[in-house]
Amino acid sequence: LEAELMTAIAEADTPEKIEDVRVKALGKQGAITALLKSLGGMSPEERQSEGPKIHGLREGVTSAIAERKTGLERAVLDAKLAAETLDMTLPAPAFPQGSVHPVSQVMDELAEIFADMGFSVATGPEIEDDWHNFTALNIPETHPARAMHDTFYFPDKRDGKDMLLRTHTSPVQIRTMTSQEPPIRIIAPGRVYRSDSDATHTPMFHQIEGLVIDKGIHLGHLKWTLETFLKAFFERDDIVLRLRPSYFPFTEPSVEIDVGYSIEKGRRVIGGSEGWMEVLGSGMVHRRVIEACGLDPDEWQGFAFGTGVDRLAMLKYGMDDLRAFFDGDLRWLKHYGFSA
Ligand code: PHE
Repeated sequence: LEAELMTAIAEADTPEKIEDVRVKALGKQGAITALLKSLGGMSPEERQSEGPKIHGLREGVTSAIAERKTGLERAVLDAKLAAETLDMTLPAPAFPQGSVHPVSQVMDELAEIFADMGFSVATGPEIEDDWHNFTALNIPETHPARAMHDTFYFPDKRDGKDMLLRTHTSPVQIRTMTSQEPPIRIIAPGRVYRSDSDATHTPMFHQIEGLVIDKGIHLGHLKWTLETFLKAFFERDDIVLRLRPSYFPFTEPSVEIDVGYSIEKGRRVIGGSEGWMEVLGSGMVHRRVIEACGLDPDEWQGFAFGTGVDRLAMLKYGMDDLRAFFDGDLRWLKHYGFSA
């Protein structure tokens, strides 16, 4: 039996065949297993003489099988390694790449430009309360400006307060003045909401707010800051500003900022003064607003401004339909998006 098994082991040339041999010799019905079982029926003397031989046979066969099996498995692996090649010089498959949305791009540009002028970025919640969005900004309950804002209100109160989606980034002025000691120089970009929808209005859009509070601040500071910003943003030196008297409840005086444009290749481009385009709302912070935030308006003055980020993006990068900004159309994103 031993010679027979050893031949079978030597002749087995695949891991599967060696497994067959193992089952036939050492499996439940195997030849060696049967021999081991036969020990039970032997006399003590017979067992004494046969036992060691059978156990010796089992050990010899077991190790021969194990050795042959390892050898065969290595051969299989070697063959596989030889057959399979990995070409490290092949270019990797193209991975779909996203792009930076123009709104994100413009917000980054704005943050960078204002950082150079010493402004930091402030944020506030999109779900606001009535006090921050209106009352503290000198827009009392009965004020017609509340109706002008097409506010989305929430059906439920929070902590007993009426909640709403902020209609502008101006509440961040209040949040900053009530949490930070002046002097203050911040910009606050973010989402705002109004119940309005057509080619130039979407119910959600983006604004950026600016606020400076310090001593002896006047309109000249406001004009210089906005002129410097617009020159940097539109990357042109021939930017002309026109300050037009206006009205916002939270600024006094209020000025609308128009910027001159010219016609190049049939398109309006910012720069020059062939026509005027309104780009920002601004003014000196109303003393009632400064007071509402717990500051003394005789000690602290400042200016504030606000404008649409989406609008700035359209003016700089030439899109003409605001709604496309938020459609998530990959072709649009690919065309107008920026690489990261
Ligand atoms: N909050 C105003 C708006 O949404 C813009 C603005 C901001 C005007 C700050 C003046 C000062 O139209």
